Amino acid sequence: MSETARLMDGKALSQKVLEQSAVRTARIKEATGVTPALATVLVGDDPASATYVKMKGRRCEAAGMRSVRCELDANLTTEQLVQEIRKLADDPAVHGILLQHPVPDQIDERAAFEAIPGHKDVDGVTIASFGAIAFDLPGSGYGSCTPAGMMTLLREYDVDPKGLEAIVIGRSPIVGKPIAMMLLAAHATVTICHSRTRDLADVVRRADIVVAAVGRPNFVQGDWIKPGAVVLDAGYNEGNVGDVDFGPAAERASMITPVPGGVGPMTIATLIDQTVTAAARQLGVEESM
Ligand SMILES: NC(=O)c1ccc[n+]([C@@H]2O[C@H](COP(=O)([O-])OP(=O)(O)OC[C@H]3O[C@@H](n4cnc5c(N)ncnc54)[C@H](OP(=O)(O)O)[C@@H]3O)[C@@H](O)[C@H]2O)c1
Repeated sequence: MSETARLMDGKALSQKVLEQSAVRTARIKEATGVTPALATVLVGDDPASATYVKMKGRRCEAAGMRSVRCELDANLTTEQLVQEIRKLADDPAVHGILLQHPVPDQIDERAAFEAIPGHKDVDGVTIASFGAIAFDLPGSGYGSCTPAGMMTLLREYDVDPKGLEAIVIGRSPIVGKPIAMMLLAAHATVTICHSRTRDLADVVRRADIVVAAVGRPNFVQGDWIKPGAVVLDAGYNEGNVGDVDFGPAAERASMITPVPGGVGPMTIATLIDQTVTAAARQLGVEESM
């Protein structure tokens, strides 16, 4: 009978990160009298987006932070949205800004993201933040939360990517590309695959670390997984299904993230953690307190 992989428990780790954020938030308040604040910007009334924003606000408040909710009309223009984001950018009482995406079609999403100044870009969505990660300049930008959360999971489970072969499936600016840069900075040998990659299964079979960020349920097959590989599944498809065919993959992997309860909870926890860091930096409070 085959062994089953160890689960990488993102739910438990996210709790730990959130508890640390609460302690750091309390210390910042004590030292400065200021409550760290995250502003969430929601355009329109897409129910899934509204749920995500609510969840982020709740986590924020649970950590003792202030949640500033900015809910905007679905028919807003790009210029109007940029104006709203600039107001938050200029507000010293707001330390992090998150623009929930996707935004309605008439909006130039990139222009809206770029209105977020780097020091408040706690969701790591701007070109400058990506550049800071790609240039491996710690402290000068925040990573996109899902990949940054995956790196925290690797550290928690003592997986050192140094010298390992990492195969990332997906090249989106919020998951695939940034996780590839973060793994590269951690000295993995990284290959990024996408919809035009030839012989994908054979490429994935080389991987010591597999990252699935495809957006297709059960896409990565169990027999693509090299025995002993570490599998990180960013996928979150309808019905709480990941991008990896979990059961067969778990029989070959040494460690694997479940869906739900793996990468997902780490995304929000990372957002909260990065907002606390942003507040500490903006308020001139020592990081090492
Ligand atoms: N847990 C969280 O908080 C969280 C956050 C973000 C995303 N996610 C999930 O992560 C997954 C990926 O999200 P995303 O935003 O990165 O998605 P995305 O922007 O749609 O990107 C999907 C990527 O998968 C590639 N792809 C599609 N079909 C493929 C195929 N047949 N073979 C190889 N590659 C293929 C695409 O290649 P091309 O570039 O060639 O089109 C693209 O690069 C989704 O399930 C999403 O729900 C979860």
